[in-house]
Amino acid sequence: MTTVGHRRPTVGRVRINAPIGIFDSGFGGLTVARAIVDLLPDEDIIYLGDTARTPYGPRPIAEVREFTLECLDWLVGQGVKALVIACNTASSAALRDARERYDIPVIEVILPAARKAATISRNGKVGVICTQGTANSRSYDDALVASRAKLFTQPCPRFVDFVEAGITSGVELLEVATDYLTPLKDEGVDTLILGCTHYPLLSGVVSLVMGEEVTLVSSSDESARAAYALLTRRNLVRTEPHVATRRFVTTGDPKAFEGLGRRLMGGFVSGIESLHLD
Ligand code: DGL
Repeated sequence: MTTVGHRRPTVGRVRINAPIGIFDSGFGGLTVARAIVDLLPDEDIIYLGDTARTPYGPRPIAEVREFTLECLDWLVGQGVKALVIACNTASSAALRDARERYDIPVIEVILPAARKAATISRNGKVGVICTQGTANSRSYDDALVASRAKLFTQPCPRFVDFVEAGITSGVELLEVATDYLTPLKDEGVDTLILGCTHYPLLSGVVSLVMGEEVTLVSSSDESARAAYALLTRRNLVRTEPHVATRRFVTTGDPKAFEGLGRRLMGGFVSGIESLHLD
């Protein structure tokens, strides 16, 4: 296992034409990558999924922090102009370290989703479903502390396993979802944050169980909007016409990544590269 020290990789002068680096423990961040591509189609991206070590959710926060910084170091070494931590668990564990460590903008998923939920909730009861790691970190509690919203947190550890196995429907998933979500329904939440970037792929079953009166807020969509806003404000959006290059890199099996990636996300995912972190 590589030990990540306090070295601060630098990228020199930020280049407007450099790619955006997007990171997740596995497939979930692809929902963020796709949302970013929808908003910023001219941008090159490099997506890194640490599928060899997924899931991050059940791991201790210190370990998630170490893995995250190791992956972000690699992306920074590729010369990216901005980092998107497209994972709630990794954002909870390593956001502050990453902001201190790198000289480029670091965008995360939690604050944008929390802000949106606090704004749109009518009764002030906001639910968040997330990994155990995100729940333990209480990062959504922190993000909502200044709002009038009351937060109800429900870890849904098995959801990531379903997504990583390519299962987004079926009786077993419906039963598990009903067990996880019924307490939130009983509390009367009117807004539910999908506080894990894997969960937009399960929004069908989540919305089926919660009912139409509950509004779902995707941390993936909100973080893509945050990336758009930050890059635009800092004048880091490409200006000349360009056919974007999209690199997808996995620490796991590239064939398996491509197979599942294409099933879940269609032709958006192709040409997977393999990365060995030692
Ligand atoms: N996609 C990650 C998140 O947003 C979690 C997946 C995992 O447990 O590795 O929290």
